[in-house]
Amino acid sequence: MKTIYLKDINKSFEGDIILEKFSLTVPEGKFFALLGPSGCGKTTVLRIIGGFEQPESGTVMLGDEDITHVPIYKRRVSTVFQNYALFPHMNVFDNVAYSLHIKNVDKETVRQRVVKILKAVHLEAHMHKPIQQLSGGQQQRVAIARAIITEPEVLLLDEPLAALDVKLREQMLIELMDLQETLKTTFVYVTHDQVEALTVADQLAILNADGKIEQIGTPQQIYEFPASAFVATFVGKMNIFRGVLKTVNQDVCVDVPGLGVFKVYISARQDWMQEGCEILMAVRPEKVWIGKKREEHFSNMMIGKVEAIVYHGHATQYNVRLKNDVIVQVFEQNEEHFPKEKIDYDDEVYLHWQKENVVLLER
Ligand SMILES: Nc1ncnc2c1ncn2[C@@H]1O[C@H](COP(=O)(O)OP(=O)(O)O)[C@@H](O)[C@H]1O
Ligand SMILES: [Mg+2]
Repeated sequence: MKTIYLKDINKSFEGDIILEKFSLTVPEGKFFALLGPSGCGKTTVLRIIGGFEQPESGTVMLGDEDITHVPIYKRRVSTVFQNYALFPHMNVFDNVAYSLHIKNVDKETVRQRVVKILKAVHLEAHMHKPIQQLSGGQQQRVAIARAIITEPEVLLLDEPLAALDVKLREQMLIELMDLQETLKTTFVYVTHDQVEALTVADQLAILNADGKIEQIGTPQQIYEFPASAFVATFVGKMNIFRGVLKTVNQDVCVDVPGLGVFKVYISARQDWMQEGCEILMAVRPEKVWIGKKREEHFSNMMIGKVEAIVYHGHATQYNVRLKNDVIVQVFEQNEEHFPKEKIDYDDEVYLHWQKENVVLLER
């Protein structure tokens, strides 16, 4: 396991700038995710770390070694691709053993290492099967086994589960987390799927459509304290209101034109959070209480009309239209502990939330 440093990487394709002065540190021994919309440059970043692409300028370091111009096979970096890229005419054992064979490792050592790795990915029972007889999930396990048998310092995973169905994907995510904990190899996991990234990562970087890093943090930091409107809406759902920061009776508030003045709480004041500045007030749908009665113990209140109710099984989503025609989304857990009056279409409802649950974003 080694720390990866990307410093001032510039990369373009056919005149289009994909990465511009791109810098990133991936801490050693961590499960790191790169999350961003399709086409933002995630694969390009991985291919530069792996040595499949050369940057026009900038440096790639692995630990204290500059590997910018080191060829792929000397990098101690392995990659798992979305499309597995297995040898279809070989069985499971031979696919996994291949990279040891070409290094002339003796037969008995190869056998022991392959068996050990196949156990780690729960494939020991399928060792002698031809690749075509395996399911998609099993094939991806072979690809992972093949990538880690060379004991790389870094394992790069490029949307490795994209071809699998949801249930299997969840299971594989947990297996990957276990594997990373056992191996302690630095994992860099690329995905456009926020649920995957939040599930697996110790730390993640959020890239915007221009390939710029918007925020780096733990899943909790990213979700609870998004640093920008992009992050707030890309990771999870967020209700966002435009307003002006102002103090009313010594309370910090946001004045939202047409809707009123709402209390907010600033835990760490940023330079730009000045009295009178334009600001975005953001509230997660699950932080909003919805009811037909007015509640007194909340800091904030809005009134609206229920426009849609979507049943999600574990939760119900309400879309509520405010008097300025803005729609607020509310998620309510489906639980029987606190039975309350049933809410229907067209009902007039009160929306409440606490000032501590507001995230303030720069406009
Ligand atoms: N070999 C290439 N030649 C030309 N354009 C490329 C090449 N690889 C990637 N691109 C372009 O670079 C951009 C970023 O691609 P990519 O890194 O694959 O994004 P992501 O993995 O985030 O979806 C895209 O616009 C893509 O079309
Ligand atoms: Mg990609």
